[in-house]
Amino acid sequence: MMAPENIPHINLENVWLPKANSTLAPSVDGAWNVVMVISIAFFFLLMGMMVYFVIAYRRRSDYDVTSDRDHNAPLEWTWTIIPLILVIALFFVGFRGFLYASVPPAEAMEIQVTAHKWAWSFQYPNGIVKGDLYVPVGRPVRLVMSSQDVIHSFYVPEFRVKRDVIPGLYTVIWFEAREPTDTALECAEYCGGSGDGSQGTGHSGMWSRVVALSGSEYDAWVNKELESSNIPPAELGKKLYEERGCKGCHSTDGAKSTGPTFKALFGSDVPLTTGQSVKADENYIRESILQSQAKIVAGYPGVMPIFQGQLTDKQVDALIAFIKEQK
Ligand code: CUA
Repeated sequence: MMAPENIPHINLENVWLPKANSTLAPSVDGAWNVVMVISIAFFFLLMGMMVYFVIAYRRRSDYDVTSDRDHNAPLEWTWTIIPLILVIALFFVGFRGFLYASVPPAEAMEIQVTAHKWAWSFQYPNGIVKGDLYVPVGRPVRLVMSSQDVIHSFYVPEFRVKRDVIPGLYTVIWFEAREPTDTALECAEYCGGSGDGSQGTGHSGMWSRVVALSGSEYDAWVNKELESSNIPPAELGKKLYEERGCKGCHSTDGAKSTGPTFKALFGSDVPLTTGQSVKADENYIRESILQSQAKIVAGYPGVMPIFQGQLTDKQVDALIAFIKEQK
């Protein structure tokens, strides 16, 4: 079991609600506060009237309190119309925030979220895969979420966002952090697991850190992550091959696809559309990844996207190492 003190602090400094740290939070809190104020006002109104009537019209021996009135139209209209106006107003209060929360800005940065029993994984556009969520402050982030097993729910109290994560389906949620923070996301859908941890830490332990960093600190974090992933190059290459789409066009078993197979590619002589041929060494492969249109292999359409600027040197090295292994 995870020790509770490892769970990042959820800021409850003002007792009422956690720190409102996303652009959506004010409208969620606004709707919440309106509902609470109305509920509290009605509680005192109704309880006050009840107490008054119980005392004023209590049973007495000195007079008869029975009445032949069974109806009061103005009163009934009043207690129908006022609540009707209130609930219509509440609908609009909630609907404004709902619309805002439902439409991610087009420029939002996208992060893939995978949930499974009992952990979260976040895949960033540059290939970083982490168990904690790191986001930039002041930039909208769009999460595309799916589950590998049962229904989970992605919930970040400080951002006021919550959405089910479902197997076989993508759900989307977005937010924009307003200030740097180190808080928690939690699974808010009971997804099993025994309390003693014998079948995993279970639903109650299914949380991750959410760290919002200012723009430059976020970039520094990204660079650090890219450099410090210390898995063996060929293994990283295999991961990139699967995650970055190489697999869709390049087989490793010799099968011809949209692109040439990687099987026995390294060191071979590759015929080009120009009629020349080139030896498939490190430089050729590097160029073919980063400047994919430089040399087109004879018999292939030359439709590969250019990866210049999309892969680091380390990632290119890893792909080369992976391709070398395909004997
Ligand atoms: Cu996942 Cu509860």
